[in-house]
Amino acid sequence: MFTSQMPEKGPNFGWVMRSNNPKVQWWFKLLTMGVFLGILIVWGIDGLNVGSFQRDFVLLKVNSSGKFSPTFKDFSFTNISLRPHSVNTHQNLNQDFARKNLAPKVAPQQINLTENQGNAPDFSLEMVTNVSHKEPELVEVSRPRVHRWISAELEANYSSNLLTNWLAPGGEPCRESRTVDVNIPALDGRENVELSTGDIHEFVFHALDDSGKPHCLGGDYFETDLAGETWKSRPPVKDLGNGSYQFSLQVHPHFSGDYNLTVILLFRHYEGLKFSPERFAYDKVLRVIPVKFSKFSVELPELSQCKKSDLVRDVWSGRWTRHAKNNSCPISNDGRYRCQEPNFPCQKPWCDGPLGLLESNGWVYSTHCSFKMFSSEEAWNCLNDRWIFWWGDSNHCDTVRNILNFILGVDMKAVPRRVDMNISNPRNPSQTVRFTNIFNGHPNETGNYQGLNSLADADYRELLKGYFSGNVVPDTIIMNSGLHDGVFWSSLRHFIKGADYAASFWAEIFDGMRQRGLTPPEVIYRTTVTTGGYARRLAFNPNKMEAFNGVVLDKLRAHGLVDRVIDDFDMTYPWHYDNRCNDGVHYGRAPAKLKWRDGQIGHQYFVDLMLGHVLLNALCTR
Ligand SMILES: *[C@@H]1O[C@H](CO)[C@@H](O)[C@H](O)[C@H]1NC(C)=O
Ligand SMILES: *[C@@H]1O[C@H](CO)[C@@H](O)[C@H](O)[C@H]1NC(C)=O
Ligand SMILES: *[C@@H]1O[C@H](CO)[C@@H](O)[C@H](O)[C@H]1NC(C)=O
Ligand SMILES: *[C@@H]1O[C@H](CO)[C@@H](O)[C@H](O)[C@H]1NC(C)=O
Ligand SMILES: *[C@@H]1O[C@H](CO)[C@@H](O)[C@H](O)[C@H]1NC(C)=O
Ligand SMILES: *[C@@H]1O[C@H](CO)[C@@H](O)[C@H](O)[C@H]1NC(C)=O
Ligand SMILES: *[C@@H]1O[C@H](CO)[C@@H](O)[C@H](O)[C@H]1NC(C)=O
Ligand SMILES: *[C@@H]1O[C@H](CO)[C@@H](O)[C@H](O)[C@H]1NC(C)=O
Ligand SMILES: *[C@@H]1O[C@H](CO)[C@@H](O)[C@H](O)[C@H]1NC(C)=O
Ligand SMILES: *[C@@H]1O[C@H](CO)[C@@H](O)[C@H](O)[C@H]1NC(C)=O
Repeated sequence: MFTSQMPEKGPNFGWVMRSNNPKVQWWFKLLTMGVFLGILIVWGIDGLNVGSFQRDFVLLKVNSSGKFSPTFKDFSFTNISLRPHSVNTHQNLNQDFARKNLAPKVAPQQINLTENQGNAPDFSLEMVTNVSHKEPELVEVSRPRVHRWISAELEANYSSNLLTNWLAPGGEPCRESRTVDVNIPALDGRENVELSTGDIHEFVFHALDDSGKPHCLGGDYFETDLAGETWKSRPPVKDLGNGSYQFSLQVHPHFSGDYNLTVILLFRHYEGLKFSPERFAYDKVLRVIPVKFSKFSVELPELSQCKKSDLVRDVWSGRWTRHAKNNSCPISNDGRYRCQEPNFPCQKPWCDGPLGLLESNGWVYSTHCSFKMFSSEEAWNCLNDRWIFWWGDSNHCDTVRNILNFILGVDMKAVPRRVDMNISNPRNPSQTVRFTNIFNGHPNETGNYQGLNSLADADYRELLKGYFSGNVVPDTIIMNSGLHDGVFWSSLRHFIKGADYAASFWAEIFDGMRQRGLTPPEVIYRTTVTTGGYARRLAFNPNKMEAFNGVVLDKLRAHGLVDRVIDDFDMTYPWHYDNRCNDGVHYGRAPAKLKWRDGQIGHQYFVDLMLGHVLLNALCTR
């Protein structure tokens, strides 16, 4: 497998960071040419008007037919309808595979789930979990079981382990083979799959090659989706490293009903991490399995509103839940969807405050804790007199603009890639906040596709240092990175070095502030978005962005830099299968009643508004 990876461009990448080295110039040119020849990217400049979204990260139009769009293909706030339970969908999708070669099928079994049955019948499906030793009280029919929420974790030593696994040698045929399908012993061949709400249902599946034999090396990238009318989440997948994977399903008892579990094989054996991954994309829907979640007497610990101390987890495993639906909510002339009154309330515990402000027609995100929606007044009271430093890609420009327009009530059409502004509350001019936004996609604000390598530019480093060298420094830095890195770094190994350099650069700035007796800013790391639709196969595909998120966090943590993490990857994930909520790489483009990437008029922007409120939670709660 290793032989098929991108050859390394040089033995050591450290020197690239030293921009006075003449080799760098040569190397940059070569690499830059490689970028353009390799994936045919059209350079784009982030324009300042709302119609210009196409110019940033605009890429080749790809053939998107046959793509999976779980519920959003025909997302329309006016006509969402639940179609009948169709059981055999996955078999149709799998016609091309030699089913006879799959492992022995489990005989379909009628699942009987009734409210007062003590023994959760779904456990018969879970060959992985030894229930009997985990659930000693199962036999007690009357006592409701209190369970935990699903959670995900960033592996220790993330970068080095990822590299090691990626380099794992082939040799045996089952390590050299290529995955084309999977075998989910507990689900394949079953009809009317019914699971209990509340419980965490774990399933193991195995990668199979084109002759139906097990593939025995990890690193395949599966997209998983659990979607019902009022719930959307990404079931976490764990790579066991030997061709077996495990995923977990959980639905809160309030949301019992019909769901589809979808499994897509996007990339095989870390191929999404390649410099130019598009031609390696597999992108096949392997299963769409209808699953009924039936109410069961299991209690989950109630979510509480996020406190600062909650926002330290590196990886989240949240869900979007729906609490309203206006069936006649057309797009307005200004591109907005005002489906509920602005003060339409949140339903506890899923969020707190006015849900109507999200303009999501009832959807809201929560994770291991839930979020408050900020009114303009509350947001101003919190931000007054503060200095927030934003360091990230063009998604930051969108998020800052959306926070200004939607939350703070400041009319601003666009936020430039480099700007330092003192903004005052239009309703109370005594309140001001300072926002500094510095683009990190390229050392030149008009450039693209350098990412963290921007820090190789001495002038750019000085520009950043300038904001932290005075007697007053920002009180918070909100960082993101990833999309431009996805296009720049020739291999994972190089990116790890680049991320390590970026972390040490900031650590040095922070040390400087401490030495001058100043309190360094709090650092909020906001992970990269999950790229959507056609962009799922490109240089910044979800496989690579998820790995890059892990590497950056690993390196920032190693330098003691991160105070809070906001996992925007998880937040955007359920909406990334098509371009209804994104243009591929941005979820926060300004509302506009114009033809969108997917051919429809207008687009949904609530996923980024949610991020705006989540950021305010991180900035404002104790
Ligand atoms: C797109 O791909 C599908 C199947 O992969 C093929 O049938 C179709 O002709 C392609 N369309 C274009 C415009 O290339
Ligand atoms: C939505 O449904 C209504 C009636 O059910 C129909 O008249 C209308 O054309 C539909 N709109 C779309 C966009 O399909
Ligand atoms: C599941 O997928 C099928 C096929 O796409 C669709 O008809 C059905 O409405 C979906 N069910 C849910 C609950 O989303
Ligand atoms: C399911 O269980 C209930 C209660 O134990 C029983 O009355 C019912 O007949 C069962 N249904 C099936 C289909 O087995
Ligand atoms: C499950 O747990 C029980 C009790 O601890 C044990 O006897 C049994 O061997 C376990 N089964 C498996 C498959 O691990
Ligand atoms: C992580 O790396 C450190 C240093 O190489 C090592 O001591 C530690 O055991 C590793 N931890 C894990 C969980 O691999
Ligand atoms: C794969 O690894 C897991 C975890 O180490 C192990 O439990 C499982 O038995 C292995 N599967 C195969 C097919 O070797
Ligand atoms: C649904 O949306 C329409 C259009 O914005 C609005 O006029 C109507 O009042 C809304 N209905 C409800 C029940 O909120
Ligand atoms: C914003 O205000 C601060 C403090 O009053 C000042 O130092 C800074 O120069 C101002 N920035 C701009 C762009 O006006
Ligand atoms: C930034 O790029 C533009 C256009 O490519 C160029 O004109 C300008 O000189 C560059 N600025 C710097 C500081 O390199």
